[in-house]
Amino acid sequence: MLVLGSGGREHALVQALARSRSAPEVLCAPGNAGIAAEAKVLDVEAEDLDGVVTAARDERVDLVVVGPEAPLVKGVADVLASAGIRCFGPGGAAAALEGSKAFSKEVMEAAAVASAAHVVVTDAAAGLEAIDRYPAVIKADGLAAGKGVVIALDRREAEVALKQLLVQRRFDTEKVVIEEHLQGEELSLLALCDGHRALPLASARDYKRIFDGDRGPNTGGMGSYSPVAAIGARRAAQICAEVHQPVLDELRRRGTPFHGVLYAGLMLTADGAKVLEFNVRFGDPETQAILPRLRSDLLEVLARAIEPGGLRGTELEWAPQSAVTVVLASRGYPDSTSTGDVISGLERVPPDVHVTHAGTARLAPGELVTAGGRVLGVTGLGTDPAGAREAAYAAADMIEFSGKQLRYDIALDAVDRASPSSK
Ligand code: AMP
Ligand code: GLY
Repeated sequence: MLVLGSGGREHALVQALARSRSAPEVLCAPGNAGIAAEAKVLDVEAEDLDGVVTAARDERVDLVVVGPEAPLVKGVADVLASAGIRCFGPGGAAAALEGSKAFSKEVMEAAAVASAAHVVVTDAAAGLEAIDRYPAVIKADGLAAGKGVVIALDRREAEVALKQLLVQRRFDTEKVVIEEHLQGEELSLLALCDGHRALPLASARDYKRIFDGDRGPNTGGMGSYSPVAAIGARRAAQICAEVHQPVLDELRRRGTPFHGVLYAGLMLTADGAKVLEFNVRFGDPETQAILPRLRSDLLEVLARAIEPGGLRGTELEWAPQSAVTVVLASRGYPDSTSTGDVISGLERVPPDVHVTHAGTARLAPGELVTAGGRVLGVTGLGTDPAGAREAAYAAADMIEFSGKQLRYDIALDAVDRASPSSK
């Protein structure tokens, strides 16, 4: 098995695959310091498609699991397929659901999937003209690592955002999508897809803003929890039937069937669930909260999803616990990242807390330092959200590095909902 990527999500995938009954040898490229302690890491960037194919051949890899979106959008699944190597993740044509927000909107329209009203513009003046109400949501068309969305509260903010995207070209993107601002609660519903059928994973919520109370700029994600109690299995199946399934059907009709994880970022509005975005891979940090609860064999279900219709009859089993993931980020994140700060205290974290590495590096044996924006993820499990939160924060507080940033309100909404009288 070869996992591509180097973040917390990939660490969680490596850990979950290693729990498989078939006891596979798990490799990761390029991985990080934490992954390297548990699996063999290869010195190949996930986006180096030729390098990935060569490495997979040399190592006689049976299955490649792709973590991040960028290699998928570049077509890593296609080149692996051409080389006769099995790959979990969609081909480039279907991955455009994440690679281009304009394409994703077009597919949703064709498939009659509910999402925010929108227009696509290519110049800043047209963008300003298109906005008739604030707040307005302004999104880069292409990939932006979760940082390409601005919620403009007034005309001045819209001007700044449009200028950054279309004049200064902050993210290599020529188009901008301007959307209606939706209100409600957010939900991440990920589904395993075998080209024909979408099978929902446990529901999750993530926290995109850097500061408590959902303030400050968007980040890659500062924490998550799973499951979302308000979304039972029936409601998840219903959302999946209204959102994931029609998109899957539309892509198959176009001759580009979707195999992999289709992640719908949803707003639960007064008029039902509406799509904010699609991702074509596991979420980060949702995966860190979702996979520790999975009792089914991850390797088996991923292998089934690669076959057309292969998930037929598959049911996923979940531990009844709650999981809460808290992300520890470095000084300056998300505007900048600081590196080289010594990380201490990991050895104090109890073994039932799952720690995933993201931006870490090992300078010498025993000396771990920060090496990126999101540094570590700490996942606590508990019989309820309060217990999981306690476990996660107790561990998060044991870990130290200069400039450490974390949110203290991860899953607080889930705790309040579970025991409204405790407020
Ligand atoms: P995206 O990358 O498209 O999911 O957007 C990042 C975040 O921006 C989402 O998780 C939401 O918090 C927010 N967002 C995106 N689109 C909208 C919208 N149409 N209305 C309200 N909030 C939005
Ligand atoms: N948690 C957001 C993402 O994975 O894109």
